[in-house]
Amino acid sequence: MSERIFNFSAGPAVLPEPVLETIQRDLPALPGLGMSILEISHRSAYVDRLMAETEERLRQLLNLSADWQVLFLQGGASLQFTMLAMNFLNADRPAAYADSGAWAQKAQEAAAQLGPVLTAWSGQSEHYTRMPAASELLTSDASYLHLTSNETIQGIALQDDLDLNGVPVICDMSSDLLSRPLQMDRYRMIYAGAQKNLGPAGVTLVLLHQELLTQQQPQLPTMLDYQTFVKSGSRYNTPPVFAIYVLNQVLGWLMDQGGLEPMHARNRAKAERLYAVIDQSQGFYAGHAATAHRSLMNVTFRLPTPELEKTFLAQAAAQGMDGLKGHRAVGGLRASIYNAFPAEGVEALCALMQDFQRQHGH
Ligand SMILES: Cc1ncc(COP(=O)(O)O)c(C=O)c1O
Repeated sequence: MSERIFNFSAGPAVLPEPVLETIQRDLPALPGLGMSILEISHRSAYVDRLMAETEERLRQLLNLSADWQVLFLQGGASLQFTMLAMNFLNADRPAAYADSGAWAQKAQEAAAQLGPVLTAWSGQSEHYTRMPAASELLTSDASYLHLTSNETIQGIALQDDLDLNGVPVICDMSSDLLSRPLQMDRYRMIYAGAQKNLGPAGVTLVLLHQELLTQQQPQLPTMLDYQTFVKSGSRYNTPPVFAIYVLNQVLGWLMDQGGLEPMHARNRAKAERLYAVIDQSQGFYAGHAATAHRSLMNVTFRLPTPELEKTFLAQAAAQGMDGLKGHRAVGGLRASIYNAFPAEGVEALCALMQDFQRQHGH
């Protein structure tokens, strides 16, 4: 494989190297089939097996009971903002949205186009530096509560699965699904675009609990009705076969790594290294997130001036580190260190940060 750099991109993001090697090896012809994954029919026995195995791997990793449906959809997490509201927002009962940051806002805006929504909590006055506690969320009689477990732009994350006392929780986990074990009984729906922690862009993973499916709105357009995909095994129309194939291999790689517990420990260790450099910099590096709400996936921080940030990014690029520029909405820097991001890349960034502070610090 030709030389790879450290890719800190927030998404699409780094994939495990063994997965890339298998894709490359088998791209012209799948073993024994004589045709590429890019060419094969989505109704073939091979794709039957692929989809069943991918679902099975997810079920194992997340310990999903038979009450959960696993769907492979398209349109990204952004389409889910609309689709979930179409399916579950009840005109008589507002949906509650936790306004935790940029992505939560988009989810809420999409739902507000379709029915009544209320803001269950907002982090706006604190500049989106923390997540809410369960006790802060106003959810009384809501059709559902929408959470965003990891705000990719701000770099803040829920550290736990909140207990909302029976309010159905729908959670956007686009940037941290499979980064840690989950208490699935705290949720009724989880969704994620794959292109951060799970695979390439093109497939959106939707996990739906049977109980929520009984509360669907009537007369939904076919392609926006979850039942369409439940009944057809996510094959009402042509699914994104290649993206599912890559997802399947990423899940296999995750299992080879020992599953979610060890992956969580590795993610914690990587993030702690970076946050320690920030904390020991005497303010040269300023983290955005409140300490107790720090994301293990997206580490956001600033340097003393925008000019120094530019210089830092140039030095990082010269040392083979890419994707560190923060989102335009918040500025600063952001190191995205998803499951597949190597510990050596974190070490390289820490070394550069310490060296840069020695050069430019006071
Ligand atoms: C938390 C979160 N939600 C939603 C999205 C939107 O995802 P997509 O581009 O798949 O629509 C993103 C992605 O960038 C995200 O980070």
